[in-house]
Amino acid sequence: MRKQIVAGNWKMNNNTLETESLIKSLAQHEIPDDVQVMVAPAFTQLSQSVSLTEAHSITVAAQNMNAADSGAHTGEVSASMLKGVGVHTIILGHSERRSLYGETDSMLQLKVQKAIAEGFQIIFCFGEELEHRKENKHFTLVEDQLSSALFDLPKTAWSQIVLAYEPVWAIGTGETASPEQAQEMHAFIRQLIENKYDADLANQIAILYGGSVKPGNAKEIFSMQDVDGGLIGGASLNAEDFMAIVNAF
Ligand code: PGA
Repeated sequence: MRKQIVAGNWKMNNNTLETESLIKSLAQHEIPDDVQVMVAPAFTQLSQSVSLTEAHSITVAAQNMNAADSGAHTGEVSASMLKGVGVHTIILGHSERRSLYGETDSMLQLKVQKAIAEGFQIIFCFGEELEHRKENKHFTLVEDQLSSALFDLPKTAWSQIVLAYEPVWAIGTGETASPEQAQEMHAFIRQLIENKYDADLANQIAILYGGSVKPGNAKEIFSMQDVDGGLIGGASLNAEDFMAIVNAF
């Protein structure tokens, strides 16, 4: 059976007090054994979050990482800095990083390679804009994003990869892809992996859906055959909502 994963992308939310309060609330909830739960706080709260989750089965992830080892990269954070505070999981390629901060497919390819080499688990995000879907180009776009960043990797590297399909038009908008739209794209992605590698690998890769997942729609989305969980933005900032989603499988 594939891993079921629910990851909370906190984005630029939660200062020290808020982080403490949210993680303490999350820790009071029972987490099902077969669900991997992650939270991705801002860089400044990573160390604190790692300490607060020490006794719990919650993984702390970073929201970004630079591909370089060190040097003149003002404002950036390296793999070894993340590992130094006990973080071994990262989100890469989020649409806000792509659209607001100019991350390109080739930059992401370097980040992915560095993260793989450093032993990180990667949640790799990708997805189409509304205009692509309107023009029926969403499958081509997703295929391009995946092939440029990931399809040069050896099969062995995929044990470190989780995919997160996030249609940009559904992120933070309250508009969700229908369960059928999510399933259709997830099945397409699995087929791409099978074509490029093999069916075994395609069946093992967890593919998360992200974009306005809420307690009210999570069950329906997670019930789709090729949807293995979610990357949650807004609803991950509230412990009750997030835990309702964790328990929605
Ligand atoms: P949202 O964000 O759940 O608020 O739509 C999802 C994401 O950006 O990962």
